[in-house]
This record gives sequence, structure tokens and C-alpha cells, in this order.
Amino acid sequence: MDTQVTAIVLAAGAGTRMKSARAKVLHELGGRSMIAHALLAVRDVGAATTVAVVGHDREQVSAAIAELDDSVVQAVQEEQRGTGHAVQVALEALDDKPAGTVLVTYGDVPLLTASTLSALLDDHRSAGRAVTILSAELEDPSGYGRIVRDATSAVVAIREDKDAGETEREIREVNSGILAVDADFLVDAVGRLTTDNAQGELYLTDIVAHAVADGRPVGAHVLEDVWQTEGVNDRAQLARLGRELNRRTTEHWMREGVTIIDPDTTWIDSAVTLAPDVTLQPGTQLLGATAVASGATIGPDTTLRNVEVGEGATVIRTHGSDAVVGAGAMVGPFSYLRPGTELGADGKIGTFVETKNAQIGPGAKVPHLSYVGDAEIGEGSNIGAGTIVANYDGVKKHRTKVGKQARTGSNNVFVAPVEIGDGAYTGGGTVVREDVPPGALATSSGPQRTMEGWVEAKRPDTPAAEAARDAAKDGNDGE
Ligand code: UD1
Ligand code: CA
Repeated sequence: MDTQVTAIVLAAGAGTRMKSARAKVLHELGGRSMIAHALLAVRDVGAATTVAVVGHDREQVSAAIAELDDSVVQAVQEEQRGTGHAVQVALEALDDKPAGTVLVTYGDVPLLTASTLSALLDDHRSAGRAVTILSAELEDPSGYGRIVRDATSAVVAIREDKDAGETEREIREVNSGILAVDADFLVDAVGRLTTDNAQGELYLTDIVAHAVADGRPVGAHVLEDVWQTEGVNDRAQLARLGRELNRRTTEHWMREGVTIIDPDTTWIDSAVTLAPDVTLQPGTQLLGATAVASGATIGPDTTLRNVEVGEGATVIRTHGSDAVVGAGAMVGPFSYLRPGTELGADGKIGTFVETKNAQIGPGAKVPHLSYVGDAEIGEGSNIGAGTIVANYDGVKKHRTKVGKQARTGSNNVFVAPVEIGDGAYTGGGTVVREDVPPGALATSSGPQRTMEGWVEAKRPDTPAAEAARDAAKDGNDGE
């Protein structure tokens, strides 16, 4: 930890162009809010103290920050009178004057990385400057503050777009807004800011001209990777940066040994972890804290949120959340794993099967067309096709327990609460209302009743009757 760094994250501005009831910095990309990306970046450079400046949508933003990291000091800027004012408010919120270096970043610049901030800090310190701006060369610099340099190409000022003259407007090197500044100098310089500008605001950027006037060294750290300096003002930008973040995330995992067949249709949240030799098929979304162990194959067309997938497991065309899939297990195609699903090693949840709060043991199988809710199925048991666990009596949920190595018939209903013992069987179509002891066979339908000639008697002029007559003629009795 670098005790000499204080981070100030500006997040008081309004997000008008998002047109949202949700605060701008709480919009997400890579499964993480913009403010969370910003706070993680400053935490990872080892800032000893972080101050977040909040204002617009303050209740929402403050609560989110407190939940993300309650060590972050929150400074309230009631009225947004400019970035310089925001920094004044941040400094007032600190118990002690900051020492060393202050890092100023924004809450709405989500692709900025900790390594970029570290490089900025290193450059700032080794050059011994009062201020180091993180700058970038843009094709279209309009809207940004321009980096004004003198004939020796030394930085002399930052000119805001609205205050810039015609020649200054042509400068393509812009202020990202992120900067490193000597703490003592900052405290002094923000006290000297005035609103003498086109917007009548206190511009933080004016500290550059003050430093130059004081004869203090100033410079810019030019960032080639301009994506990292880009802010989000509307949802089109959010999507653009979200896609770029995902491109970076998929590339990262491919370099770590993950096979991604189609990175363009594969979405991976920032908190997901993948082991080498995982394979991701097209149309896969891995969200939240999903973790996939080596050799597992996910997809195509699968969405998993907070799902843990074991080594060598296969999950095909599945939607799952808050679930665990054991090593070597098979899921899908067309499975729906709801929260609390735990599938044991080498188990199976098959086609058109929905599970919820269900612990399915090692090697146990629910292969076809079933609903399993609030249930435990023991090791090696096989649940017949089309089985419904009736867990809800209309008022309460109840549990069902199937022991190990049981074999239950097709089209069963397990009316919870009920227990089927180890090694027990049930017949096809059984409605299991009472416990079945270990090793027993339970059936609930009576013996089959067959009425010979019923079709001829009751449906004489139908195709069925004709088919039956033909069968009789051919001596084909249907067996
Ligand atoms: C600012 C910079 C500009 C830079 C640009 C990069 C100044 C004067 N200008 O301009 O040089 O090129 O960012 O995007 O600094 N904020 C507050 N309180 C305020 C005002 C702003 O917290 O009173 C926060 C905003 O929420 C935002 C950030 O500061 O996160 C920047 O504010 P914004 O209004 O976008 O600044 P620009 O005018 O774009
Ligand atoms: Ca801006």
C-alpha cells in the first residue's frame, strides 16, 4: 500500500443524457457499475484514502459506494459548481490535509485501469512535477479541454472547449480529466480558483496555469489507449464501451488458455473466473461471480449467473443462476437451473428439465422433461422422464427426498413432503403420496382395464374403427 496517495473520485454530476431513474455511475458494464470500476482501479493502485464526491442521485450513489467499500470517504457536493469545486469539497471532507500525491479520477470513465494509474503516478513522481495530466490524442477532440503547450512543447495550460479560441480548438491532445498532483500544491491551488470563464464554474484544470505561473513543473502523461480515457454520457456510449470492455475481457481469457469460439457473441463479466482449457461456444454469457474449472465446455447459447462449473463438465443451451454443477456433470440442452441447484459429480440434468433448490447427488440423473424443486436426490439414482416434484401445496413448500440408487418410473408425481428410500423403484405414472421404503416398488395406478371391441361399438364410422377392422382382417391384433 502506498500511504502517500489519496484518491478523489468525482461522481457528483448529473447523468441527464442517460434518461434514467438510475444514477449514471450506477449503470453497469461487464456486470459492474461504473463507480465500482472506478473505485476498484484506485484501490488497486494502493491509494491509502479514497474520497468519492457525490451530489446528483446522492441517495442511490452513496448507498452503492458504502456497500462496495465502506472505507471510502464520501463528500457531498450539494451544487455542482465545477470540477475545482468538487475537489475543494473532497479536501474538506478529509480529517487531515492529504500528504504526498493526490490522484483525481472520474466515476464515469470505466475502462481506466489501475496499471494506467500506476504508470501516471510513477511518471509524476519520477519527473518531480507539481501536476501531471493524463492526456490523449483524439481524432475528434471537440468537447474536451485541450492541452496547451508552448514553443518548447512544455504544457502551459488546459483550455476548456467553451473557452478555447479557434487555434486552440485545433489542438488534438486533450485532458482526460484524470491527473496526479502534489498534495500541498493542490490544497493551495484549489483555493485560488475563480469562476472567470465561459461556464462560470471552478475549473480544476486551472491549477495547471497556476503551477506554471508559480514556476512549478507541469507535464502530461500521454495515453495511447484512448478507450481508457473515454467517459460515458449516454447509453450508446455505455454500449460502445461495454463491447470494448468485453473484447478486452475475452482477449484476456484467451491469453490465459480459454478457447472462445466466437468472442463477438461471448459475454464475460469482469468478476468471472475461468481456468485454462475451458471452451466457450458461441452465444455464451458468463455473468456475476461465475467460475468455470478446467476442461469444462459451456454453450452454445448458455447464460450462467453466479454458477460454479466443475472440471470437465458440459453445459449446453442452458439458463442458470446461483447453482453448482459438479465435475464431469452434463447439463442440457434446454435446462433451467434456478437458485440452489447443486448437481453432483458426473450427474445429469437433461433436456427440458427445471431445477430449484435441489441437491442432485453424484452420478444421479434427471434426464428428461422434469421439474425438481426443494428436493434431494441421492447418489446414482435415476428419475424417470416427465417427473414432477409437486413441492407446493398451495400454501407452503415442502421437501422431497429420494435416496441413493433409486429408479423411479416415467411420468411420476412426487407429492411433497415425501421420501423414496435407497434402492427403491416406482412404476410408470405413479403419484407418490406416501413414503416408499428402501428396496420397495411403489405403483399407484390400478391394473389396466381393456375393453375389447370398444371402438367398433362406440365409434363405428371413424378412421380408428376402419384401422381396427383392417388389423383384424390381416390377423394383426396389434402385438
Ligand atoms: C472535464 C474537464 C475537461 C476534460 C473532460 C474530460 C474541467 C473543468 N474540465 O470537462 O478538461 O477534457 O472533463 O471528460 O475539469 N463533476 C463533479 N462535480 C462538478 C462537476 C463535475 O463531481 O461540479 C464530475 C462529473 O460527475 C464527472 C467529472 O466531474 O464525473 C467531469 O465532469 P464533466 O462535467 O463531465 O466535465 P467536462 O465539462 O466534460
Ligand atoms: Ca465529461
